[in-house]
Amino acid sequence: MSVLSDHPVRPDYSALRVGVLYGGDSPERAGSIVSGEAASKALSVQGVRAELIDLTGLDLAALSGRIDVALLAAHGLGGEDGKVQGALDLLGIPYTGSGVLASATGMHKVRFKELMQSNLVDTPSWVDISPSWSIDTAISTASMSLGYPLFLKPVSGGGSLAAGIARDSTELRDLLSQARERPYDGYLIEEYVPGTPCSVGVLETEGELHTLPVHSVETDRPFYDYEAKHDLALRREQCPALIPDLMSTRLRQLALRAHRRIGAHGVSRVDFLLSPDGRTPMLEINTVPGLSPSGNLATMAAAAGIPYEELILRVLDTAFTKPAYVP
Ligand SMILES: Nc1ncnc2c1ncn2[C@@H]1O[C@H](COP(=O)(O)OP(=O)(O)O)[C@@H](O)[C@H]1O
Ligand SMILES: [Mg+2]
Repeated sequence: MSVLSDHPVRPDYSALRVGVLYGGDSPERAGSIVSGEAASKALSVQGVRAELIDLTGLDLAALSGRIDVALLAAHGLGGEDGKVQGALDLLGIPYTGSGVLASATGMHKVRFKELMQSNLVDTPSWVDISPSWSIDTAISTASMSLGYPLFLKPVSGGGSLAAGIARDSTELRDLLSQARERPYDGYLIEEYVPGTPCSVGVLETEGELHTLPVHSVETDRPFYDYEAKHDLALRREQCPALIPDLMSTRLRQLALRAHRRIGAHGVSRVDFLLSPDGRTPMLEINTVPGLSPSGNLATMAAAAGIPYEELILRVLDTAFTKPAYVP
């Protein structure tokens, strides 16, 4: 199958060398390998020269002259946080998705929530746990300002890693003690919001931003944790989500607002909770969403009639539609 070169924004990819940057040292490495391998294969079967390049130990400067464009498929710290993006900017290599500032903002849940709150977007109330605080200080501050149950998560984490529910101060103490053993610098504690996890993909198509149908997940696990994210038997997905049209429209508008407000580019996925009381707090934005063919973004794209191979081409297109200067 030949690559569409009559597409309004799409370059002739058969003439370009695409480096699929994946892996790296982030705790989300495993998911990133799935994303990278699948994206690379989707490009190859469409006649695009794609090279899988693991970020672990990579001398980024050596990419000059080796690739013409980078498709970013590394999730979490070191791939999604703006550092690789900045290096590629300096090297003059175009790359998919967001620039430095939006990537860094999206990776930092507290900065992101502050920005959303100042834009009147509902997000769970939270306490930012300073790394210098003792466990006792963290417990008393969170108990006083939020009450129980609570939800602990890393400020710059992902994949539900090192996250958990605390129903009382004993459980919070356990979670905070375990958190100290993990490779994250900072944690936040949120009010626990009961509800269904939902996600909205944002994808640029022919230079215009569109949202994808809402994706919802039910799980019997206490929350949408790492295990539920990696084992299809532990979750039931619905896309489009079975929610009223008005709610779906609202979630899609909010996702677009978050994407635009942080200055994201091309592709993102915004996570929400759908509470039984009708509240729909926004949890976070992912500026390098998972690219697995069975992942949320691909499922949402399929629901919008976009096959996986075309989704990957659209993600690649975003490398060529970024404004010349992205902060
Ligand atoms: N405040 C909260 N209350 C209840 N559950 C939460 C809360 N925050 C996160 N969760 C649960 O954890 C999952 C992952 O949270 P999220 O903020 O999207 O972090 P990650 O970056 O790890 O995906 C959510 O889908 C939800 O199941
Ligand atoms: Mg999430």
